[in-house]
Amino acid sequence: MKTPPLIFVIIFLCSFFSVAAIAADDTPQIDPALELINVLGCKGCHVISGKGGSLATDLTHIGSRLSAKQIEAQLTSGSAAQVKGFMPSYTSLPKADLQRISEYLYNLH
Ligand code: HEC
Repeated sequence: MKTPPLIFVIIFLCSFFSVAAIAADDTPQIDPALELINVLGCKGCHVISGKGGSLATDLTHIGSRLSAKQIEAQLTSGSAAQVKGFMPSYTSLPKADLQRISEYLYNLH
């Protein structure tokens, strides 16, 4: 069998990769709350849904212990209330973002 000219091979490969790129665009959008959590570096210290550091408590099931309001309070008080804590305080975040993160964590279970 005669091998196809190189140009057809190149066209075939290009079309394959452009289809792959379009398919990648269709991946579901990441939850905005999870995006905040990633950007703020919570997982540097906490495990959330199986990923993250072990410096502090696993937050995956935090909703079974704390209400969304309590989680939000933790975010703005940081370690103020705890003697040996070192969690940063996120008081500079917009209220809407704090609520978004708290609701997200509360609903994880
Ligand atoms: C530098 C490490 C660090 C980072 C970053 C961090 N935390 Fe924490 N977090 C802690 C520690 C340590 C505690 C334990 C309480 C304490 O001692 O302050 C804690 C406690 C908590 C608690 C209460 C947990 C419980 O079991 O009562 C919540 C909720 C929480 N963090 C959420 C977050 C979120 C959301 C972020 C990101 C916006 C974040 N943390 C970022 C270290 C961190």
